[in-house]
Amino acid sequence: MSADLFDSLPDQRFSREQIAAGAVLLRGFAGPVESDLIAALHAIVEQAPFRHMSTPGGHPMSVAMTNCGGAGWVTDRSGYRYDGIDPQSGKPWPPMPESFRALAGRAAMEAGFDAFLPDACLINRYQPGARMSLHQDKDEHDFGAPIVSVSLGLPAIFLFGGLKRTDKPSRHRLEHGDIVVWGGPSRLFFHGVAPLADGEHAVMGRQRINLTFRKAR
Ligand code: SIN
Ligand code: FE2
Repeated sequence: MSADLFDSLPDQRFSREQIAAGAVLLRGFAGPVESDLIAALHAIVEQAPFRHMSTPGGHPMSVAMTNCGGAGWVTDRSGYRYDGIDPQSGKPWPPMPESFRALAGRAAMEAGFDAFLPDACLINRYQPGARMSLHQDKDEHDFGAPIVSVSLGLPAIFLFGGLKRTDKPSRHRLEHGDIVVWGGPSRLFFHGVAPLADGEHAVMGRQRINLTFRKAR
């Protein structure tokens, strides 16, 4: 088989599952670039370490967070918002690595959303027991752009509901390298993550890292 023919074969390294209208789970999609992602992640965390932000009600979140890109998602006593400055350092968030941007764009395209240009990447760190309660991603200006969410490390149960908080969520086990993309009719669907089960991941250790790409501004 010639190299050209091999290159033109469809990429079989991931599989696709429709989880709602406008929402797709791409299993294994990030696998081929995992080492680039992890190296870039380490560099980001050196400049902008993980921290437990507080909800507007004053409760520290169980998930530790940081950001990269022009806009970072923050929460404190004054509410949820995007801010170009890391409140902990007073400096801009680290720039979004090209490997992050390119992966998010390819995943969005694969899910049917062309020309996704994220300016925000929220990085969530779950240690055993950490969870994220059902919420909508609605602090962005333009709901025309999808959300692209990359999972690394320990497996987690992702909950994907509907437009109402009371809609019963479907449950999806997300593993290292999986990506969920949601937009269009499900852009504002409630979603969350069940408490992380303890374990040890061969590459990432005792944690799950989630990269959530958004077009914030
Ligand atoms: C989020 O909704 O920001 C995080 C989702 C996840 O950790 O999979
Ligand atoms: Fe979210």
